[in-house]
Amino acid sequence: MKRTLLFVFSAICLLSCKQSPSVTSPDGSLVVSFRLSLSGEPQYQAVQNDKVVIDWSALGLETKEQRLTDGFKVKGTKKSAYDSTWETVWGEERFISDTHNRLTIELCHESGILMNLEFRAWNDGFAFRYVFPEQNSRQFTITDEHTAYRFAEGSMAWSIPWRTEYYEGLWRKQPVASLDTVCSPITIELPDGNYAFVHEAALYDYPAQNLYAHAGMLATYLTPWLDSNTEPMEVKAYEMIPFNTPWRFVILAHDLPQMTASRIMLNLNEPCKIDDTGWIHPMKFMGIWWGMHIKTMTWEQGPKHGATTGNMEHYMRFAAEHGIDAVLAEGWNRGWEDWKHFDFTTPYPDWDMDYLSRLADSLGVQIVGHNETGGNAADYEADLDAIYRYHQANGIHVIKTGYVAPIIRTRDGLQWNKGQSGVRHYRKVIETAAKYHIMIDNHEPVMPTGLQRTYPNLMSQEGVRGQEWNAWSDDGGNPCEHVTILPFTRIMAGPVDYTPGVFRFENPIIPTTRVHSTLMNQLGLFVCFYSPLQMACDLPEHYTAYPDAFHFIERVPCDWERSLLVDGKIGDYCIFARQERGQNNWYMGGITDEEAREVTLPLSFLNVQGDNVQKTKYKLTLYRDAEEADWETHPYAYIIEEREVTPSDTIRVRMAPGGGFAANLIADF
Ligand code: NOJ
Repeated sequence: MKRTLLFVFSAICLLSCKQSPSVTSPDGSLVVSFRLSLSGEPQYQAVQNDKVVIDWSALGLETKEQRLTDGFKVKGTKKSAYDSTWETVWGEERFISDTHNRLTIELCHESGILMNLEFRAWNDGFAFRYVFPEQNSRQFTITDEHTAYRFAEGSMAWSIPWRTEYYEGLWRKQPVASLDTVCSPITIELPDGNYAFVHEAALYDYPAQNLYAHAGMLATYLTPWLDSNTEPMEVKAYEMIPFNTPWRFVILAHDLPQMTASRIMLNLNEPCKIDDTGWIHPMKFMGIWWGMHIKTMTWEQGPKHGATTGNMEHYMRFAAEHGIDAVLAEGWNRGWEDWKHFDFTTPYPDWDMDYLSRLADSLGVQIVGHNETGGNAADYEADLDAIYRYHQANGIHVIKTGYVAPIIRTRDGLQWNKGQSGVRHYRKVIETAAKYHIMIDNHEPVMPTGLQRTYPNLMSQEGVRGQEWNAWSDDGGNPCEHVTILPFTRIMAGPVDYTPGVFRFENPIIPTTRVHSTLMNQLGLFVCFYSPLQMACDLPEHYTAYPDAFHFIERVPCDWERSLLVDGKIGDYCIFARQERGQNNWYMGGITDEEAREVTLPLSFLNVQGDNVQKTKYKLTLYRDAEEADWETHPYAYIIEEREVTPSDTIRVRMAPGGGFAANLIADF
């Protein structure tokens, strides 16, 4: 299904600095206006339902060659409307509608440089970017970006500091006005109870943005290049005209269901560039992985080596028996002794690639390859074709990549992974992987910005303080509230490889740390945290201890027809319902922080069946915390109930401290 309408009512008009051209959302509720100040500085303002949400804020760039922050004149404006619906290869939703209005402001700088500002307005937010059209060819060295956002006083932001290694931090809530530099995205609670989500989209060849409070506004700080002493340089980006920056976008929502349903970021990315996507499949996987984090196994060879042929066969047979699509193996290849010389095409002697690849075929279970680079992106990039050819020849179509090093070595020397050079590297990996029909799960990534629309082989990314911190973190593990913040912050930026599904919470080898959740909370994560590559991360023997609870993991899909947040509060709790793609079945997941909560959930969402036949009866299987459940004292206490329900029913569920629930609602039984 695809319908696209583009109306262009191009109005080339000369404007004096007093006029404010604007673009209005299709429903008329949001108006984004543009003006030039008396000194020719470009500025914008966003008004929603007649209320100023972002007051006049600066736009502009600084380059080594020219300050493009004022001295502009408007040459003309163009307006158009866009209305389209596109089908995702995989996702939280099958069909995404994209209905917005556009405004282009054509600017001429006093130096003669032409710069356009492109604005788009949806009902749930807006975006803009800087576009440098073809002109006398020039190289630009960008040193700063002046984009700012003037939110109302009293706004509070959820964020992580901008130097958080690999984005693996605990999110904090602070006044916007006192933000030190933080990573993009940020989620803002506005004083009137509405929400704003600020991020960037389509980051292809530019540094990642960071944000900081300055003069009552949020200002932009682009990740800099590093010099040969790894000191930040003045330079942020090297560009050749024609070029455009990534989109800067702001979701403006009345409530969290509306905010989490926004698809502005995906709509701002280019349509799919892969002609035949038949080889791209969402899947669940297990892996030789948690053992290394709880230290019962090692990546390198030795008496506790995890990725041996025998161990992998054990995992693969378990996966086949339980309907899990794939198995990851970390530590299968040479190089783990020093983390410096990884070899991605030579297995350790106790890993029989031929045998395992034939076994994978016969069992119908895929092998997920693992390419940990130790931050040496340059060598990895130089060998990409050979590496992917090797994996392809061995029937491996999914690779988890890794870049453990605070500063990575790119073809441009030591650089931050979210600087322009890092961004280029990650894109090169995705594009090359696509040639070899390889799907990527990128750990230690640059923060996602929706690139998976263009390259749907970019399946999942880390960029989060994930489950592994519960195995070894000095601070004892992720606090209960952590998982109730992520759906409204990190996961708004795209799929997350958090690795849910731990079924044993204590770690005898590191007894000072543990998973802060009940078993039902772990099940709830499979629905609350979206990833088309969803890992059930625990050991097979931990799953066999609770086979009835594991049954939910066996059944839960990771590709959806539609998704909705049923209820939630950032940092307190969250409940999602999602319809299995192409089926009438629904799944629900709930998680809470250290507070117990009873929630009342109307099942009216079951009426929303779109193209599918509407069902009136469902078999509900509810996996919930038992009365005595508590993450600290009784994390394994749960109850599984089955009954028939209809869309007009309401269910009540109590979530224990650190607890949660999961449910499936099967239509055809
Ligand atoms: C960090 C990754 O996040 C983790 O999943 C992986 O096991 C280790 N690096 C080793 O590559």
